[in-house]
Amino acid sequence: MSGNNRTSGGLAGVVAAESALSKIDGESGKLWYRGYDIHTLAKGAAFPEVLYLLWYGDLPNRAELIAFEGLLAAERELPSEVMEVLRGLPSDTVPMSALRTAVSALGCVDPDSESNDRGADLAKGVRLVSQMPTVVAAFHRLREGKAPISPDPDLSHSANFLYMLNGDRPGETATRALDTSLILYLEHGLNASTFACRIVASTLSDMHSAITAGIGALKGPLHGGANQRAMEMLLEIEEHGDAEAWVDAALAEGKKIMGFGHRVYRTEDPRATHLRRMSEELSDDAGAARLHALARTVESTMLDRKSIPCNVDFYCATVYGSLGFPLDLYTPLFAIGRVGGWVGHVMEQHENNRLIRPRAEYVGELDRRFVRLEERR
Ligand SMILES: CC(C)(COP(=O)(O)OP(=O)(O)OC[C@H]1O[C@@H](n2cnc3c(N)ncnc32)[C@H](O)[C@@H]1OP(=O)(O)O)[C@@H](O)C(=O)NCCC(=O)NCCS
Repeated sequence: MSGNNRTSGGLAGVVAAESALSKIDGESGKLWYRGYDIHTLAKGAAFPEVLYLLWYGDLPNRAELIAFEGLLAAERELPSEVMEVLRGLPSDTVPMSALRTAVSALGCVDPDSESNDRGADLAKGVRLVSQMPTVVAAFHRLREGKAPISPDPDLSHSANFLYMLNGDRPGETATRALDTSLILYLEHGLNASTFACRIVASTLSDMHSAITAGIGALKGPLHGGANQRAMEMLLEIEEHGDAEAWVDAALAEGKKIMGFGHRVYRTEDPRATHLRRMSEELSDDAGAARLHALARTVESTMLDRKSIPCNVDFYCATVYGSLGFPLDLYTPLFAIGRVGGWVGHVMEQHENNRLIRPRAEYVGELDRRFVRLEERR
């Protein structure tokens, strides 16, 4: 940490906003969304239900949920202008960059783009949650030279994404696994991407600008990019053949092991508990079972050598691997879940706003003598 008495390296431990969306107890490894334990929600609810809880404060009754799911399903199609933007991108564009670009473009054609009223923010939130999966699936198909598949309003949020990506109606197990991962990714306090969204919203800028910033922050390997990097690491370890030796050598070189460590949790990330279980349940073919076993060895080696538990991204990597997703869609899938949290935070910020503007501790020189250009050597 480069901190001194007046700065906190990486703002660790600094409380920078109030939020009623979620609470994390990093010491005991607990997480609540709107007061509900994450374990209960991950086991007993579906993504739109938890999203409703986050945005409206209470769980929906059946009629409210049906109406909300209908709203989401009606907004899945992309405006033609945005599909054209996707078609114009080079096929080797990193999908997170394509998503960032498309969300920015969605803001250009959104009818409510310049209003920060709660109603407008909610309407934009519904569109973003519904359209971001379409962006990711469409861009992936376009880069493979295939035609995008139109969303099916009769499918659930998660089933529809799998359908738009693969062209087949997915089974129950795959749909439930994706849906649970989206619930687990939905919200997590003032992480870097959410903070980025709140900073943008605090200038009274608009929802799409804030979400574009959030996607940019999530892309980094120390944040959402870790799920893809964790899988790349596991594949490298598999080729190497000796997981313990690989981890020891990486630690000796001072490398960070992707999918381990957390700024807030001092014990197991409660989201990792579900993803580990799902990873095991989905290991029904030899390749997936091998990767799951390898991941268990990496986990026990990290606990033994460094006492550092895994975070949400580690077993999410093996779950997404079992579901057959291309590696570079892992982080966009994180964004497809987290956008619900970002929208919730932007609404909180807009409803009770004060510009977020910290200070920097100046550590440079002062009162330097100006030398005219012609006299400078
Ligand atoms: C998440 C993360 C950025 C948190 O960082 P942080 O709060 O700034 O913690 P630090 O990087 O200062 O780490 C504290 C100590 O633990 C070690 N550590 C933390 N995560 C580690 C990891 N993944 N692998 C190896 N060592 C790790 C650090 O080397 C440091 O050790 P030191 O005190 O001997 O120097 C960090 O754990 C990390 O880079 N993890 C890998 C990326 C990842 O999985 N990100 C997703 C987060 S959900």
